[in-house]
Amino acid sequence: MKTMIIAVCNSKGGVFKTGTAFNLTVFLSKYKPVLVDLDSQKSGTYLNNIRQQFTESLNVITINKENELEQIIEQNSTEKLFIIDTGGFDSSLTRIAIITADILISPTSGNVVDLLGLNRFESILKELSNVKGETIKTNVFINDVSPSAKNFDEIKEFINSSDNLKLLNSIVRTRADFSNAINKGLSVKEFNPVGKAMLEFKALTKEIEELLLKL
Ligand SMILES: Nc1ncnc2c1ncn2[C@@H]1O[C@H](COP(=O)(O)OP(=O)(O)O)[C@@H](O)[C@H]1O
Ligand SMILES: [Mg+2]
Repeated sequence: MKTMIIAVCNSKGGVFKTGTAFNLTVFLSKYKPVLVDLDSQKSGTYLNNIRQQFTESLNVITINKENELEQIIEQNSTEKLFIIDTGGFDSSLTRIAIITADILISPTSGNVVDLLGLNRFESILKELSNVKGETIKTNVFINDVSPSAKNFDEIKEFINSSDNLKLLNSIVRTRADFSNAINKGLSVKEFNPVGKAMLEFKALTKEIEELLLKL
C-alpha cells in the first residue's frame, strides 16, 4: 500500500478539526496512522499526553517548520497513513499540507458564522488549486448540529454550488461523548463504545476509508 495523507482542514477555528483528526487516528488504527500536529496550540500533542494516563498513546508527530513537514512527507519509509491536524488559521504549513494531501476533510456546523468561514476557506482552496494546477476539493461533513435537526438544505446548496467543496453523507451531531472523551485524550469509541457519537463517527470513518481505498 502506498503512503496516504489525510488533512483535516478548515481555516475557521473551533469546528472540530483536532477532534476529527484525533478520533480518526484511533478509528483507522488498523492502518497504523501517524497523527501529524501542525496546530500552533499543539492540542493533539497535548491530548496525547493526557491520554497516556488512561491508555496507550497514539503515534503523534509535532511539526513546527515547513521543512519538518516536507521531510516527514518525503521520508515516509514505514508509515503508511498520515492524518494531519492543520491549525485553525491560514499559514504556509497548512497550505503545504493542503496541496500535498490525498484527501481533505473539513468539518463545519452549517451555522451562519461557520458558513462564512467555509466561504473564506473555499477562496484559499481556489488559490491553491491554481498553484497545484488542479481543482482541490475538500470533503465537508456536517458536524455539531442538534440531534433533532433535519433540514440541511441551506448548507447543501452552498456546498453543491462550489467546485472546491464536496459533501459527505455522514452527519455528526452534538454529543456530550465527543467533548467528554477528548478531555481524557480518548476517542469516542474508547470512551463509550455503544454511544451515538461512536456510531456517527464510525459511519464517517467508513466513508473516509472508502475514499482511501480508491487512492
Ligand atoms: N459533534 C460535537 N459534539 C460535541 N462537541 C463538539 C462537537 N464538535 C465539536 N465539539 C467541541 O467543539 C470544540 C472545538 O473542537 P476542536 O476539535 O478543538 O476544534 P478545532 O481543532 O477546529 O479548533 C471542542 O470542545 C469539541 O469538543
Ligand atoms: Mg485544533
